[in-house]
Amino acid sequence: MSDTVTLTIDGKPVTVAKGTNVLEAAKTLGVEISAFCYHPGLPIVAQCRQCLVSIEKNPKLQPSCQQVVADGMVVHTTDPVSTLARKQQLEFTLVNHPIDCPICDKAGECTLQKLYFDHDNADSRVDTPKVHKAKVVDIGPHIVLDQERCILCSRCIRTCDHVSGQHQLEFAHRSDHELLTTAPGEQLDNPYSLNTVDVCPVGALTAKDFRFTMRAWELDATPSICNGCATGCNIEIHHKNERAWRLVPRHNPDVNDYWMCDEGRFTYHDLREHRLAGPTVEGLPASWDRAIASAAKRLGVFLKDPAQVGVVLSATCSNEDNYALARLAKEWKVGLVLVAGKPPVPARADGRLRVADVNPNAAGVKAIAAALGLATTPSFELDRAPPANLRALVVLGDVLPGFDAARLKELEVIAVASHERGVVTGARVALPIAAWAEAAGTVTNAKGRVQRMHAAFAPPGQAIAGWDAIARLGHATGVKLAWSHAREVWKDMVAQVAAWKDVTWAREVRPLALRFAGSRG
Ligand code: SF4
Ligand code: SF4
Ligand code: FES
Repeated sequence: MSDTVTLTIDGKPVTVAKGTNVLEAAKTLGVEISAFCYHPGLPIVAQCRQCLVSIEKNPKLQPSCQQVVADGMVVHTTDPVSTLARKQQLEFTLVNHPIDCPICDKAGECTLQKLYFDHDNADSRVDTPKVHKAKVVDIGPHIVLDQERCILCSRCIRTCDHVSGQHQLEFAHRSDHELLTTAPGEQLDNPYSLNTVDVCPVGALTAKDFRFTMRAWELDATPSICNGCATGCNIEIHHKNERAWRLVPRHNPDVNDYWMCDEGRFTYHDLREHRLAGPTVEGLPASWDRAIASAAKRLGVFLKDPAQVGVVLSATCSNEDNYALARLAKEWKVGLVLVAGKPPVPARADGRLRVADVNPNAAGVKAIAAALGLATTPSFELDRAPPANLRALVVLGDVLPGFDAARLKELEVIAVASHERGVVTGARVALPIAAWAEAAGTVTNAKGRVQRMHAAFAPPGQAIAGWDAIARLGHATGVKLAWSHAREVWKDMVAQVAAWKDVTWAREVRPLALRFAGSRG
């Protein structure tokens, strides 16, 4: 039996998988049917009636989001009857809508605004006062609700139920007094609550963290991977003026579907805090040349007996940065290779997206070290047995848990890091590198999936890519790592890590201006 179905939409034949709905089948032909309540990641309820189409031999118009395709089905989306029905439905939705677009944070990415210009564009015929509802309702720790902008599509209700598994939103009252609300005394407060803002087709739900910061049409979008935990949710960085303004989920059915957690969304704040923007030697600003020469000189003394030197790979940094340092560790023949990372947070693990490991790349570091034949020790184990002969440590990243602070002071610490905190503050030499949103690279999630990050904007000050800083340090100690781009590091790396030999380096992408991206609703 065939798994596909062939039907005709607007006179064109189309073959799609069995079970597809008419709305999605039309999309494959480039036919966009207007819709509010339908979302491909949510259960279908067909309640807005904005997607009505004519289907031959069917006496009534059908909601295309709910209508499943059938062999020989003939669908019309541009006939006068269904066109008028969708136009009238849009007018109906607008009857009590406040149309406060100039002060609405969704303007520029609002489905209602878009459909009005696409399908109606007519003057209002409402000559009676509109029904007003509450504005600026503090509905939860991260979200503000404007009840009169809500078009009662129930996407947010279904998102709470489906994504977080918590029924926290509901409709109350009837007719034109119906409104979205929480149960008395309750809040919209769950680890995935901000997905409701993404799915809201209008400006009824807005994020406290983002609202009134930037207009959507001013932002550029760059695809990347959330570095908040080992799940590696696919995201877009929305940025402007060399900084990120928000992170939103990017569809990947194999990782995060359409969703991400609230905590992950807020990780962009860290890109601007405590940054190491220039090299330092003994805590004082230095040029790159002086810092590299100083680091090489300090290391050179101990590399005569490499057992005195240790390197720290980091589960918080990319595969490329870790591979570069792992290569140096191998060439230097160091006595100790540690792996550092943030301590696990067992309470996070919820069987959905959030996992206990809050490092983006523990699996990547493990694979690289194994491929290069490096025996690694978790850094937190050092408290128990710090090697007495250890004299110098090259640390990637700023996280080094479990390392005795007094012992650390006795060592020549060379830090290669994006942030000036933790182990970096006491480093003899600190080399500034790009953070995750500022450099091309990859991370490997808990399931071993290697995922590509793109540079959304330049790193601050004199910071450069981590692998580049490490290659410069290597060069000064006599180890030549001839890379001019992250892609070349990648090429070298996959030649060694057998499990990654079939993974390709995704092509470079240019930031996409959101004003050309259409509505995100
Ligand atoms: S708040 Fe937004 S997503 Fe929720 S029902 Fe209203 S319009 Fe739909
Ligand atoms: S689940 Fe993890 S990877 Fe996904 S958004 Fe949250 S912190 Fe980021
Ligand atoms: S999108 Fe089909 S009924 Fe709402």
